[in-house]
Amino acid sequence: MIFLKMVTFPVLRPRRLRKSKLVRDLVSETSISQNDLVLPVFIKENINEPEQIASMPGIYRYPPNDKLINYLQDSYENGIRSVILFGIPSYKDDIASSAYDKNGIIQRAVRIIKDSFKDKIIVITDECTDEYMANGHCGLVKYTNGCYVVDNDESLKIHAKIALSQAEAGADVIAPSSMMDGVVRAIRDALDSAGYIDTLILSYSVKYASVMYGPFRDAAYSKPAFGDRRGYQMDPRNAFEAIKEARLDIEEGADILMVKPAHTYLDVIRLVKDHFPEYPLAAYHVSGEYSMIKAAAINGWIDEKTAVLEITTAIKRAGADLIITYYANDIARWIKDGV
Ligand code: PBG
Repeated sequence: MIFLKMVTFPVLRPRRLRKSKLVRDLVSETSISQNDLVLPVFIKENINEPEQIASMPGIYRYPPNDKLINYLQDSYENGIRSVILFGIPSYKDDIASSAYDKNGIIQRAVRIIKDSFKDKIIVITDECTDEYMANGHCGLVKYTNGCYVVDNDESLKIHAKIALSQAEAGADVIAPSSMMDGVVRAIRDALDSAGYIDTLILSYSVKYASVMYGPFRDAAYSKPAFGDRRGYQMDPRNAFEAIKEARLDIEEGADILMVKPAHTYLDVIRLVKDHFPEYPLAAYHVSGEYSMIKAAAINGWIDEKTAVLEITTAIKRAGADLIITYYANDIARWIKDGV
């Protein structure tokens, strides 16, 4: 005869794994480290003091001088090891010439950062034309059949030129963000032919035409003068198209892929990671995603630290290996202080 021991229901109790912080920490699947964070930095020509960006409280445009170096030194002490630079030139035209000027704002910024930090910081440069074009587009605009279009193949030559000049200035990683077809190959060829075989390419492979870039365009004065970017950036209604974009960039030689924005595209991050797990994946928590949290926090509607850590952890959990975020310094500080 079998005697069944009386058990109390429920037998299976998932709550045991949540009973204390130590147990929760022991079994957690996801964690964020300072090594995963990339700090975006705006560098502006012809200013002497940092300027706060109205639509991004807490974020500044820096002059390429000791003010920038001090800021990066503070960031370094927080644990930040990678930065992505955006240039705001004093001069714009229709061929983005200030983007590949040897003494352009980005080239000067890269040189002074590399002089000060040597190999202690990874310098990534955003490679695009929008901040340098009078019309604010991510490539050369031509007028055909009564409308303005961004000419893909002519634009590739300019993108290759900009990338090369950033590499010459000392950038470790070039990050093409134009969404032009073939831009990764054009840049890889230009870098390799000039001997920059070790310069990495972090491609904005899966970049959506998102309203979330609004505050960035205020920060960088890069709003398109006419039209929008839907003719080259991805349609937010599409997820599977991300697989195609990522695959093409891999074939063209990208070292690291990116999905952008991040918080609103967690499904796409997961999709790309599942399809190409062998490629490091970056996610860009963009300006609008930053400003929404910031605005709520300033108003006392949300607890900033908890919100930022939850969202950033969600981005990692979705499959991102590295995260570009305007909150990088805060997160690094919180991690250092023991979250
Ligand atoms: C293009 C570029 C943009 C951002 C990064 N690179 C602007 C755009 O595509 O309009 C946006 C980043 C953000 O919103 O934080 N150079």
